[in-house]
Amino acid sequence: MNEHGSTNLMQRPRHLLTTIAVLVACVPVLAEEPFTLNGDAQAGKPLYQTHCADCHGERAQGDGSWAGAYQPPPSDLTREGLGAERLFIATRDGGMAVGMRATMPAFRHTLDEQSIHDVVAYIKSLDQ
Ligand code: HEC
Repeated sequence: MNEHGSTNLMQRPRHLLTTIAVLVACVPVLAEEPFTLNGDAQAGKPLYQTHCADCHGERAQGDGSWAGAYQPPPSDLTREGLGAERLFIATRDGGMAVGMRATMPAFRHTLDEQSIHDVVAYIKSLDQ
């Protein structure tokens, strides 16, 4: 075996240890943590307008131009008691993740988690 080949063999156990270390480091991340909104409303505004406004309306009151096509209609996202965590989960995983209908699509394949935080921050900024 040449020098290159033996070096690779030597590295394999270390590789495995690195993999295990990375997996162990991920455990606290996977564990349930309290939700904290960490978004930038200004960054979320154009995302909201592109992905949500047609159904939920410019001011998120459930009155977008497509709203009439849905029964039940798109939610008023500014309604009292609608918290940031529920906004986040419904947006990422779709209506069924919060006991509503699949007419509310999941955005996890369209928007990354940071973008969803930004969209939720924008919706929250409309409350004021
Ligand atoms: C194709 C239309 C459509 C689009 C686009 C859409 N929604 Fe919805 N959304 C709905 C409908 C319809 C419901 C209500 C479903 C029900 O009543 O069962 C809903 C419900 C929700 C809810 C649940 C609120 C509650 O009442 O608890 C949230 C949160 C939400 N949408 C956020 C968003 C966000 C944020 C976006 C953009 C990233 C978005 N939606 C894009 C149609 C849409």
